[in-house]
Amino acid sequence: MTASNQQQINDWNGPVGERWLTYNEWLDERTAAYGRAAFDAAAVRPGEAVLDIGCGAGATSFELARAVGAGGSVIGVDVSEPLIGRARDRAQPLGLPVEFRLADASAPLFPPQSFDLLFSRFGVMFFDDPVAAFTQLRKTLKPGGRLAFACWQEPAKNDWYVLPLNAIGGIVEQAPIDTQAPGPFNFSDPQRVQRILSEAGFEQIELKPFQAPFYCGRGDTREAVAEDALEQVFRVGPISRLLAAQSEEIRERATAAIRAALAGIATEQGIEVGGATWVVTARSP
Ligand SMILES: C[S@@+](CC[C@H](N)C(=O)[O-])C[C@H]1O[C@@H](n2cnc3c(N)ncnc32)[C@H](O)[C@@H]1O
Repeated sequence: MTASNQQQINDWNGPVGERWLTYNEWLDERTAAYGRAAFDAAAVRPGEAVLDIGCGAGATSFELARAVGAGGSVIGVDVSEPLIGRARDRAQPLGLPVEFRLADASAPLFPPQSFDLLFSRFGVMFFDDPVAAFTQLRKTLKPGGRLAFACWQEPAKNDWYVLPLNAIGGIVEQAPIDTQAPGPFNFSDPQRVQRILSEAGFEQIELKPFQAPFYCGRGDTREAVAEDALEQVFRVGPISRLLAAQSEEIRERATAAIRAALAGIATEQGIEVGGATWVVTARSP
């Protein structure tokens, strides 16, 4: 029996999902390199059946569908109604072998041995009970079937997330980042990922590091570069939510502190704030 995942279902149907919907195209651009690294590791072949876990607005499902071709099939599954709605809208003109399901990916949705490949770009770190979820998912793989996904490494290696948090350390009280709880860093500890996947019955588990800039400030002057990056900080990550609960005065001070931190690393060529991921691969026996 899997846990309920209710908090994440609420978040991804609430303000977090709304932000991902608003900045959908920008997020697809910013996460493309990480997704591409997992896609390359997945070695998708024509004719295969693929499940895209936590597919969001569908960008990776479309890439997978192009790779499997007309003889294959891709199902994107996600708990977020607005994001699945966007994925379905985007799919319509494309004529690809892809369909989308609004559902919790950890639920028993598919018959055993349905898929050749389970894939995800940042969609697997949100299960209340990851071992139960991955056990259920593994059963849907054919014998020898593959798992390939991208997830974030530890917060300290992800400036896109921690740089703005560090900048407002003395202004806004922050709970420590809980890497054991569902959230972006829940799969950041490689030993924990090994344990979860091996308890879920996977074999040949490998994690390879992959890094790329996450957001990039651009502009004609250092101030303009910092301002561009500042706007991106509010699109994704913890800052919008953290500051929403604060007074106007605190919000202004915090915003000024983040702007100053960004200005400190801005050059006239721009700013690139990095992200570090694991590309995780494994097989079903
Ligand atoms: C960080 S977003 C990534 C979305 C997409 N893969 C992409 O790269 O654009 C995480 C996604 O996982 C979805 N998600 C969270 N928990 C889920 C669950 N239990 N089952 C299915 N999807 C889930 C969220 O709704 C969200 O769309």
